[in-house]
Amino acid sequence: MSEDSIQQRIETLRHQIEQHNHQYYVLDAPKIPDAEYDRLMRELTKLESEHPELVTAESPTQRVGGAVEERFDSVRHELPMLSLGNVFSEQELRDFDRRVRERLDVDTIVYSCEPKLDGVALSLLYEGGRLVRAATRGDGQTGEDVTHTARVIPAVPLRLMDGAPQGRLEVRGEVYMPKAGFAAYNKRAEAAGEKTFVNPRNAAAGTLRQLDPQLAAKRPLAFFAYSVGVVDGDWLPSGHVATLELLAEAGLPVCPHNQRVDGVEGCLAFYAEMTDKRDTLPYEIDGIVYKVDDYEQQRELGFVSKAPRWATAHKFPAQEELTTVADIDVQVGRTGAITPVARLNPVFVGGVTVTNVTLHNEDEMRRKDVRIGDTVIVRRAGDVIPEIVAVVPDRRPIDARLFTMPSQCPVCQSPVERVEGEAVARCTGGLICAAQRKEAIRHFASRKALDIEGLGDKLIDQLVEAETLNNVADVFRLDVPTLAALDRMAEKSAGNLVAAIETAKSTTLQRLLYGIGIREVGESTAANLARWFGRLEAIVEADQDALEAVPDVGPIVASHIRAFFDNEDNLAVIASLRELGVHWPQKKPQRTQTGPLTGQTIVLTGTLTSIKRSEAKIALEALGAKVSGSVSKATSLVIAGEKAGSKLTKATELGVEVGGEEKLAELLSLGKT
Ligand code: IVH
Repeated sequence: MSEDSIQQRIETLRHQIEQHNHQYYVLDAPKIPDAEYDRLMRELTKLESEHPELVTAESPTQRVGGAVEERFDSVRHELPMLSLGNVFSEQELRDFDRRVRERLDVDTIVYSCEPKLDGVALSLLYEGGRLVRAATRGDGQTGEDVTHTARVIPAVPLRLMDGAPQGRLEVRGEVYMPKAGFAAYNKRAEAAGEKTFVNPRNAAAGTLRQLDPQLAAKRPLAFFAYSVGVVDGDWLPSGHVATLELLAEAGLPVCPHNQRVDGVEGCLAFYAEMTDKRDTLPYEIDGIVYKVDDYEQQRELGFVSKAPRWATAHKFPAQEELTTVADIDVQVGRTGAITPVARLNPVFVGGVTVTNVTLHNEDEMRRKDVRIGDTVIVRRAGDVIPEIVAVVPDRRPIDARLFTMPSQCPVCQSPVERVEGEAVARCTGGLICAAQRKEAIRHFASRKALDIEGLGDKLIDQLVEAETLNNVADVFRLDVPTLAALDRMAEKSAGNLVAAIETAKSTTLQRLLYGIGIREVGESTAANLARWFGRLEAIVEADQDALEAVPDVGPIVASHIRAFFDNEDNLAVIASLRELGVHWPQKKPQRTQTGPLTGQTIVLTGTLTSIKRSEAKIALEALGAKVSGSVSKATSLVIAGEKAGSKLTKATELGVEVGGEEKLAELLSLGKT
């Protein structure tokens, strides 16, 4: 590149970064994922380091964080709030450790390993043990006074415990929004047509920088202390870990996962452990922070520009990336559901290459306004199915195209129907539709159903297209000559498959019920039905009420089960399965899930803040309760969360007992011994 075009590129990058900074720090509404932002920043840093003559004081590389806004008083940090350097691999971490050891001329280092909380930094100033001021980091030198919102965060003590220092003590830490609170908040905001947050970190940042503390108080924020700033007197111990212990004694929340380790191997072990635990943690983390524990060593190591030499952040692979939508088409599911799917230009995110993501249904696709040609943010967190978080509107090409849902099934040409009030469009072809037949057979053969090893997707496609398989029972008619005659099927694998099919004949009622594909009957409902009735005949004969008595079965599921067994074709398939030798043990009905709540029918309604509704349901059932979806005279108790509506009204009308989340907590505590 010529000097001119380098200058130009630098200008473009600065301009883009400034815009993104504004979106991120001022509007709390980033338009691109962090990974993309980091790339822009890295490119700029690299160009500037190669051409130091082009560096200007205003370049975004020359400061930390965002601008201070005028609507808040500014706070000058007596000690600057620093940022951290990054490492992205084991090798880079080993290099970091080696540099530290060489500078200090020691063999091994004691480190404090801490989850890198994905929130915003907050400085809390205590005087005489009382919180007198809270400030954001801002640009590291000057932050914003957010005392009014920090005070409403329950985890931030307004007064320290007795024995805490009486002089000034500046505590620094991270404000974050726990995953559960974030999900619940967004769900409510979406239902109310209000602005949702892209991620918990922006939710935390946006909330802290609210003008109205009343509004901030409604958002579930939490706080962990991770270091100190200004400290008067001689309170400070000789190392970081001991400081955190003292902070905890003073009443400040400190992350319970922090760990003191010896040497870089200890750091790596901690990183591996937290990588495993990440999905189950109640808060988002985006990496691990390692800090040299000893303050004397920290002083000796000092700083480079805005970051300490004694600490670094080990980042997890990005969970959000950008790519473009090459096309949108639809998939026909087992129950005929027509699902729009975005075909993406392959993108590596969260450790895998993603090429397809479901758009769920037409409404969801419209809500996100995803169009063919759009640049989108793709997220894949842990083992969660990849999703499109949002479109990047600035990057929409002029020829971006909306996708219209087909009115005919792309596979069997039957009309597509969308029932009033339902989000899902369905092919009305039923088993005429080859797509539905294929999916039904795939499901039947899957691991949690009949578990037929070797009956893979491609094979099912071929066999359905050849009309060898027309329903699930036909699987048990397959023989070696038929299979061996297929493309790419050797005699040996045909033999193996026939053997696997033979083995699968001996199954359980639960697997069968799950496998035959009754709408809304998943694994756990199938298990409940099998346990409750013991025999298939009893289920076939059960009426709506008898079905609704089963734990986990409400009126809708019960009606799907009824409809399934009222259908002659389905009964014929089951008869064929039996004739072909499929069998399962007959058992006695087991209806007593006994526990302290046996005999009670409980209805959960409204928004629960302390536990997910589905989890509460499972926990109550484990205690013997029946959890129902509708209130009737038979209901023993209604647990009403926030914004409970018609069910609460009905309970009051019928004189059914109503309790809040305290009541729920009380019931759930019966399960703890
Ligand atoms: S220590 C000089 N510890 O990560 C050390 N930071 O760029 C400064 N963060 O803005 C930070 N968890 O908000 C530290 N356990 C932790 C942290 C942590 C999250 C954030 C912090 C800072 C950013 C570093």
